[in-house]
Amino acid sequence: MQQLFANNKGLLAMDESTGTCNRRFAAAGIPQTLLMRRDYRELIVTTPRLKEYIGGAILYDETIRQQTKAGVPMAEVLMNAGIIPGIKVDLGTKPLAGFPNEMITEGLDGLRERLAEYKIMGARFAKWRAVISIGDNVPTSMGIEANVHALARYAALCQEADIVPIVEPEILMSGNHSLRRCEEVTEMVLKRLFYQLYRSRIDLEGIILKPNMVMAGAESGEQNTSEEIAEATVRCLLNSVPAAVPAIAFLSGGQSPMDADAHLNAMHTQSKGHLPWVVTFSFGRALQQPALAAWKGNTVNIKKAQRLLYEQTKAAAAARLGDFHR
Ligand code: 13P
Repeated sequence: MQQLFANNKGLLAMDESTGTCNRRFAAAGIPQTLLMRRDYRELIVTTPRLKEYIGGAILYDETIRQQTKAGVPMAEVLMNAGIIPGIKVDLGTKPLAGFPNEMITEGLDGLRERLAEYKIMGARFAKWRAVISIGDNVPTSMGIEANVHALARYAALCQEADIVPIVEPEILMSGNHSLRRCEEVTEMVLKRLFYQLYRSRIDLEGIILKPNMVMAGAESGEQNTSEEIAEATVRCLLNSVPAAVPAIAFLSGGQSPMDADAHLNAMHTQSKGHLPWVVTFSFGRALQQPALAAWKGNTVNIKKAQRLLYEQTKAAAAARLGDFHR
């Protein structure tokens, strides 16, 4: 755990499912093939000096089973570079039967066996993402309960396997809700989550929480400053996350790299180091976006893409210190 976040490091989420990765490739005009996904993930894990600001990288099942062109397993490349490999273990979301517009994350069946296999492949931490939408009449109490219950069962299986669980209840940015409504829902979800973790006998000192930042819905038209977002986010977390939790690592959720970094930065400048947990990043898009756009699926662009990825990790690490400037 300490190794993951030492020296102001954060996590790199590179665990897009095949569907999500293909969607991002399609948008960037990159062919959606197994080999292109391999080349892209190889570009990421072989980025020079990545370990300066990244303590752990979250892989997807396809990637942890893949080797680089030179025949080295991706997880081994990371380990050799001083970065701890982790693995996304949920199997994605499906509509929650009987509850229109709510999703439930699947993947508990057989998870004990999969965790054992991933551990042999080198994974030392895992991730499970639950998704909650804000809208008319959602989320419902049942929608929240079903999702946090699954998160608790996942976390218990991880701790049994001696794998650190990243617990990710993501309240989506899409919608026209206010910042205040996002804060209310995030607080409610986190409080119910920690009650389920308690009931499931989870050792809170051995988990990482990966929450969303508290923000107005992307279609709401409400504009908030980084200071307002940081204030609402920290207030929400202080009200709902026990101090026994060692680390909070935010998802970026579709924010631009600049915005995600500015908001994380504002949390640190406001709190001046007086937070009970490590507060850092576990960004996917906000670290990878510029690199993916620069790569374009072309070998000649690899160095440039790697430089951009490194620069984004450096900026996020500065934000973790309250030292980021737009
Ligand atoms: P984003 O930062 O792109 O939201 O990805 C993080 C992640 O792991 C989502 O599950």
